[in-house]
Amino acid sequence: MAGLFDKQADDYSNARPTYPKEWYSKLAALTPHHHLAWDVATGNGQAALGVAEYFDRVIATDVSESQLQRAVAHPRVQYIHTPLTLTDDDVVSLFGGENSVDLVTVAQGVHWFDLPSLYSRVSRLLRKPGGVFAVWCYRGVEVSPTFDPLMMKFSETTLPYWDPHAKYVFDGYKTLPFPFESVGLGSEGDPLALEIPKQLSFEGFLRMLRSWSAVNTAKDQGVDLLNEKMVKELESAWGGPEFVRSVVFTAFMLAGKVKL
Ligand SMILES: C[S@@+](CC[C@H](N)C(=O)[O-])C[C@H]1O[C@@H](n2cnc3c(N)ncnc32)[C@H](O)[C@@H]1O
Repeated sequence: MAGLFDKQADDYSNARPTYPKEWYSKLAALTPHHHLAWDVATGNGQAALGVAEYFDRVIATDVSESQLQRAVAHPRVQYIHTPLTLTDDDVVSLFGGENSVDLVTVAQGVHWFDLPSLYSRVSRLLRKPGGVFAVWCYRGVEVSPTFDPLMMKFSETTLPYWDPHAKYVFDGYKTLPFPFESVGLGSEGDPLALEIPKQLSFEGFLRMLRSWSAVNTAKDQGVDLLNEKMVKELESAWGGPEFVRSVVFTAFMLAGKVKL
């Protein structure tokens, strides 16, 4: 699982959405201190850059060096490669010890993790009391009544190629274990539904589809899900390669504090 995002890192950095500013301001308003944040599974810094607007320092980590090589530089964000061989103590010491982190975010990534291990690291690192842990994911995108059924058909062709962990995303994080005390932005079993509006050309949309791990897993198995015929069909339903549409991604958030 950890290597699923190495090959498509270029498409990833060009195509994935960033997140609305209000999400970060709401999270920042919930933490009494704003010294240090940890963006886990940062990819190219999609969430780290938003968090950096509210925190003095952000440590943004990822298991994939290719993702980090394409990360967007920011004076308050330090990107650190965290291979799977790091121990809990190694990770805790990256931050200077326990009780040192005011906000931990995992954007579109927590479902890839061994949850008990990640949650134990987060619980050790979060400032107690006061530190907040927020995870979110996005799934389907609403484009238009002509495009959406075709997109549904395409999505169905990807189903056999998703890693089982992606099930949490299909469920909108409803079944994701999240044993933290709610802070009013979703709770275990009851995630907060949100929207991510984005302006997207078909070319941008196609790059996003190319960055899907299932599309790349299928390719590795000799199946080109985004073959010429499929791309042409999607492109014509979109309205042309350069036509820019306003689209909305459906997202789900869970945020909480360590239970004391
Ligand atoms: C879908 S991307 C999300 C990237 C970014 N946070 C975003 O919002 O677009 C998932 C990221 O999780 C990383 N990842 C997966 N398993 C990981 C692990 N065990 N430790 C650290 N990063 C991991 C992948 O390398 C990838 O960059």
